[in-house]
Amino acid sequence: MEFKLLPGGTVCGEARVPGDKSISHRAIMLGALAEGATRVSGFLEGEDALATLTAFRELGVEIERPGESEVLVHGVGLRGLKAPRGPLDLGNAGTGMRLMCGLLAGQAFDSELTGDASLCSRPMGRVIDPLQLMGAKIASEEGGRPPLRISGGRQLHGIHYDLPMASAQVKSCVLLAGLYSQGVTSVTEPAPTRDHTERMLRGFGYEIGSDNGVISLAGGGKLHAADIEVPADISSATFFLVAASIAPGSDLLLTHVGINPTRIGVLNILKLMGADITLKNRREVGGEPVADLHVRYAPLHGIEIPEEQVPLAIDEFPALFIAAACAQGRTVLRGAKELRVKESDRIAAMAEGLTTLGIDNEILEDGIVIEGGTLGSGVIRTFHDHRIAMSFAVAALRAQGEIRVLDCDHVATSFPGFDALARGLGLQISALVD
Ligand code: S3P
Repeated sequence: MEFKLLPGGTVCGEARVPGDKSISHRAIMLGALAEGATRVSGFLEGEDALATLTAFRELGVEIERPGESEVLVHGVGLRGLKAPRGPLDLGNAGTGMRLMCGLLAGQAFDSELTGDASLCSRPMGRVIDPLQLMGAKIASEEGGRPPLRISGGRQLHGIHYDLPMASAQVKSCVLLAGLYSQGVTSVTEPAPTRDHTERMLRGFGYEIGSDNGVISLAGGGKLHAADIEVPADISSATFFLVAASIAPGSDLLLTHVGINPTRIGVLNILKLMGADITLKNRREVGGEPVADLHVRYAPLHGIEIPEEQVPLAIDEFPALFIAAACAQGRTVLRGAKELRVKESDRIAAMAEGLTTLGIDNEILEDGIVIEGGTLGSGVIRTFHDHRIAMSFAVAALRAQGEIRVLDCDHVATSFPGFDALARGLGLQISALVD
């Protein structure tokens, strides 16, 4: 599937984007390990979260889908998972694979985790290393790539792990393995990352310490089922925050968006660039803060992106690069090496597309420099990365001519219905099925 976009348009109206991907994955996982039934509403029916759902069914967990975006997980308790009949396929989902690796390392049975070509090229050494220190046995392909073969029947023991990179997936993996470990497992991070695992564990009644940057838990406790309302994903909302910010005349309300402090780097960065975004109706839903985001067009200017914002906006950079391309002056990003190991090398992929559209940029080892300018037209390669596809769709609002975005199938991993919603809000987008 590819997107064809006519240039121009304004972005107006009100929308609720689909549920948060990170929270949806965790709702299935922790719901499965809890005692009792967990009702999840606002669940992301995207391919990534659905792959996790299917994997847990294969691990013997009964999961119902009573209505749209609703899931009922019949928890089996920490020791209730069953050996799967074959490899568990996590599709495109790095979160699914890295978190499941942690909790499968502590099971009595063997298991194998695999995924699509993109996932099978992503580094898993970052989770294998700490799990091995905890006593796990995991075999991988060369360079720590999936498939991962996890040996069961290993008694794990708690460790203290200093995360070498700011990664919520690695942190969560170690903490989930810690549920099955003797003694205390603790982690420190080089910079704060999304804390959905910690919040949800607490919401399920599991004691988890957080003291002076050390996050810790003791193994052998119990999770108690609790209902979860998943907020709209700020990472998906980002495409429309940028869209409305760059398209003159835009005025948009995005409702019920998760504004967890570990996720709002995009709001901070856009505001530093001059964006007009206000948060309304702030409230707390199931342990996560949410708000309605009102965004109106505003002329943006280039900035040096503060490095401490990088982990708080890690998935939002492709869209932020489009904002930078439409801003006046130069935007500089550094300290963002992690972008190179996402669903694609997002620095290289975005640089290529921006160059195609006539935007000057310079690739840095750990970031990029973008000179704001005039977007032309052209054909964009996405490297099968959902966020690259949606970012260039949004770019068309300020382009001089037509943009074709190739290989957009993966948009369904995180944002099913993106093109229809985008069309309803004012983008001139059509999805062409090949
Ligand atoms: C996620 C953590 C981040 C993020 C990913 C989701 C999570 O990855 O990029 O989309 O749900 O924990 P890293 O942990 O690799 O930074």
